[in-house]
Amino acid sequence: MKKGRQLVWLSEELGIEEAILAEGQADKAELLERLRQEVFRCQKCRLYKTKRNYVFGAGNPYAEIMFVGEAPGGEEDKQGIPFVGRAGKLLTKLLEEIGYTREQVYIANVLKCRPPQNRDPRQDEIAACSPYLDSQIKIIQPKVLCALGRFAAVFLLGKQIPLSQMRMKVHETRYGAKLIVTYHPAAVLRNPRLMDSARRDFAMLKAVVEGEGIDSSRLP
Ligand code: URA
Repeated sequence: MKKGRQLVWLSEELGIEEAILAEGQADKAELLERLRQEVFRCQKCRLYKTKRNYVFGAGNPYAEIMFVGEAPGGEEDKQGIPFVGRAGKLLTKLLEEIGYTREQVYIANVLKCRPPQNRDPRQDEIAACSPYLDSQIKIIQPKVLCALGRFAAVFLLGKQIPLSQMRMKVHETRYGAKLIVTYHPAAVLRNPRLMDSARRDFAMLKAVVEGEGIDSSRLP
């Protein structure tokens, strides 16, 4: 653990008032574990009643890249792991194409419980659940966030604008991390013509993580 990390404020509601990420103090993996235990007791919205498993998040607590999706689907609900169904396989492929593995990144969703029949998240569910995502981001402190689809992008940007206007830009966020917005992999599966654009977004993600300037002529 590196010394001198900044304070990470976590809400009292989560039972973690303040943690200092410094040597000898709670580290990212420990803080995530405490938060996971909190999520596994959550009854803040109706979705805990219909879910099979809470889907907290998975990956490297020290990741530079953090992906944020919408909500668990059927396979994720069954396994308790984010992005393990068809959309997840496409996410893994896009990631591997830019030279990263799933073990190097962290993956989470705005909602930790599956909405019945994979319906869209409701505003009250997002309001109840998103403080968990907020804390995950504050603990991990990724260099770059990547929003997969509109729900994640709207939450991370804090404004409602069409996905088309959010893509192909490097956004600043309240977390200090940069943000890249791309299509939800499920949307790419439904419309394979989006694959080239998704590849372009992932190339941009790689360039931002690796600290290169964005030269659009080098994007595929
Ligand atoms: N879609 C999401 O948004 N998240 C998952 O974990 C799986 C599918």
